[in-house]
Amino acid sequence: MAARRLAETQPESFAFTAENRAWAEREIAKFPEGRQASAVISLLWRAQEQEGWVTKPAIENVAKMLGMPLIRVLEVATFYTMFHLEPVGSKAHIQVCGTTPCMLRGSNDLIEVCRRRIHPEQHHLSADGFLSWEEVECLGACVNAPMIQVSKDTYEDLTPKIFEGLLDAFERGESPQPGPQTWRQFSMPESGPTSLTEIRYADDDVRPVRSRPMADATVMAGAPQSSEQHAGPARRQGGTDPATQAAANQNVGRVDPLGRADEAAARAPGGGGDQPKPVPDTHESGPKNPGARSDRDSSKPGGEG
Ligand code: FES
Repeated sequence: MAARRLAETQPESFAFTAENRAWAEREIAKFPEGRQASAVISLLWRAQEQEGWVTKPAIENVAKMLGMPLIRVLEVATFYTMFHLEPVGSKAHIQVCGTTPCMLRGSNDLIEVCRRRIHPEQHHLSADGFLSWEEVECLGACVNAPMIQVSKDTYEDLTPKIFEGLLDAFERGESPQPGPQTWRQFSMPESGPTSLTEIRYADDDVRPVRSRPMADATVMAGAPQSSEQHAGPARRQGGTDPATQAAANQNVGRVDPLGRADEAAARAPGGGGDQPKPVPDTHESGPKNPGARSDRDSSKPGGEG
């Protein structure tokens, strides 16, 4: 990453708007007397939100408001890549992580897209001024590499094609939903669950948790529509995914004689969570827990599971 320096061309002055000034004063007041410097990142961020980038007059203004030496504020502004030190694209400034995990997962391909779509060199505006880009160090989403950051949002699990879809959306002035841009949720394994794949009941009956594709399949901007294959059809139609319901029933587990689920009974006074509990035949006790009913049936020899 190149050295971070203030832009050569700077505006004459900076002043917070009345609203931002009032917000900044409230922010400073959160800290004990003598600790006002703790508000430095908040104020620099608000200055950037107001101006689009962090100008030298803004840094001077923040230093004055916080009673800090100018060099201390300058150190903060030039250290964190979240602060833009030169004008950036009016629609989006793309920060591409190029650190090892993202590099191994294809960040160089994303950078090539930036070079072709935005500008051959980082820290330059696109021809229409809408976009700009830069390569940055690890942004803490390595498990979803490769990824980019735009302002406060991260866009993860990218391919060049998905990334180009995101750029199209930014150019149209849209705000694509951040997070993984494929079907998976957060950082769950791409191949499905790899741990907690079985449930051990109090009577030592061990049942596997049904292995299933991700139910909450979300196709983000630019994501290939083939990812639909990971989504349960009922989910896509707005209904309840039967696989999800079955898993939920498994988690409910058995009921005790009072009709309480195992976990609730264990937490109750005298519940004896370590002791095996009698399991009533729910045929006789009524449909208090239909999920437990089918669960028990399928655990018997000759049951479905
Ligand atoms: S290496 Fe890219 S987010 Fe950590």
